[in-house]
Amino acid sequence: MTQAATEQDRVLIFDTTLRDGEQSPGATMTHDEKLEIAELLDEMGVDIIEAGFPIASEGDFKAVSEIAKRSKDAVICGLARANAADIDRCWEAVRNAGKPRIHTFIGTSPLHRAIPNLTQDEMAEKIHETVTHARNLCDNVQWSPMDATRTEWDYLCRVIEIAIKAGATTINIPDTVGYTAPVESADLIRRLIETVPGADEVIFATHCHNDLGMATANALAAVAGGARQIECTINGLGERAGNTALEEVVMALKTRHDIMPWHTGVDTTKIMHISRRVSTVSGFPVQFNKAIVGKNAFAHESGIHQDGMLKNRENFEIMRPEDVGLAGTSLPLGKHSGRAALRDKLENLGYEVGDNQLKDIFVRFKELADRKKEVFDDDILALMRTAADAE
Ligand code: KIV
Ligand code: ZN
Repeated sequence: MTQAATEQDRVLIFDTTLRDGEQSPGATMTHDEKLEIAELLDEMGVDIIEAGFPIASEGDFKAVSEIAKRSKDAVICGLARANAADIDRCWEAVRNAGKPRIHTFIGTSPLHRAIPNLTQDEMAEKIHETVTHARNLCDNVQWSPMDATRTEWDYLCRVIEIAIKAGATTINIPDTVGYTAPVESADLIRRLIETVPGADEVIFATHCHNDLGMATANALAAVAGGARQIECTINGLGERAGNTALEEVVMALKTRHDIMPWHTGVDTTKIMHISRRVSTVSGFPVQFNKAIVGKNAFAHESGIHQDGMLKNRENFEIMRPEDVGLAGTSLPLGKHSGRAALRDKLENLGYEVGDNQLKDIFVRFKELADRKKEVFDDDILALMRTAADAE
């Protein structure tokens, strides 16, 4: 699919939970867990699944091969460094997918060129050879200049042009160390598309890391600049501070379609389930206040907020919890809660109370809430029993 052939307002979602996500220290998943996550990603409408790095280990090779065989709608992609052995191994693993892709990369910034100690010309030649090799095996080839955002502008344009001429169909622009700011991210993609010959024949992708907490903003800015593929992970799992979080970009595009007129093919109601599964299998808990999938993302404790929510949920919610797969909003009771939420809770538990009785229970509730972080249904039931005994 070329940039020209893609609907102009459709953004492809490329999930790399099983590759970049798994590279988080300690996030290793078992073979069966990887198959399960890949199946969930495919079912939720992710366009491309980066299933692993086949040459990295026998286990990775087997997982990518099995995911490829079982894939339904998604493109299955494997990662390969810029050498024939990596690319061949990757192709062996993905070739049985209905829609296979090879993703090959090399670090192009001055710092990264120093690692293999290649001159600009030597690296340019390597890019030409390896992308040509990948394209001879597979007609869907993604190429990434790693650390693109710290690569000299002229050199970046030069190597992208070489990769396109050698047959790359997607050009990914990684912000490998999360260094870019959103204004730069948009500008970089826009200028690359305007400048590099052949750029309108390929898809530009954005791959952002979260070292400065800007990965989601950078990815969305890149889309504003013309990128039509976002690389991301569930829960933002990934190296160091992680990658762009899938749930954040997808829900941002859905919720602010008025200002960001692009859409994805993701079924957002499947977000919560996959978030919980990835958290469990990776062993990485989701922070309580994490956007979209955190325990508190749709919870309101303070009296003013709870009262506002009971009158009209739009007072304090910009998304519907049902749209991310939650049963509904939660109004946990705590020391900041007010009478309206207590009355609502009592009604849900089957108690009809008059104003005077509510006043009395509210005093007891506040005493309890001062001692406890959260007051649960069982606490309220106990409170009601004590109140009944006292009468
Ligand atoms: O962050 C990065 O540069 C990567 C590449 C391999 C695309 O993950
Ligand atoms: Zn990365």
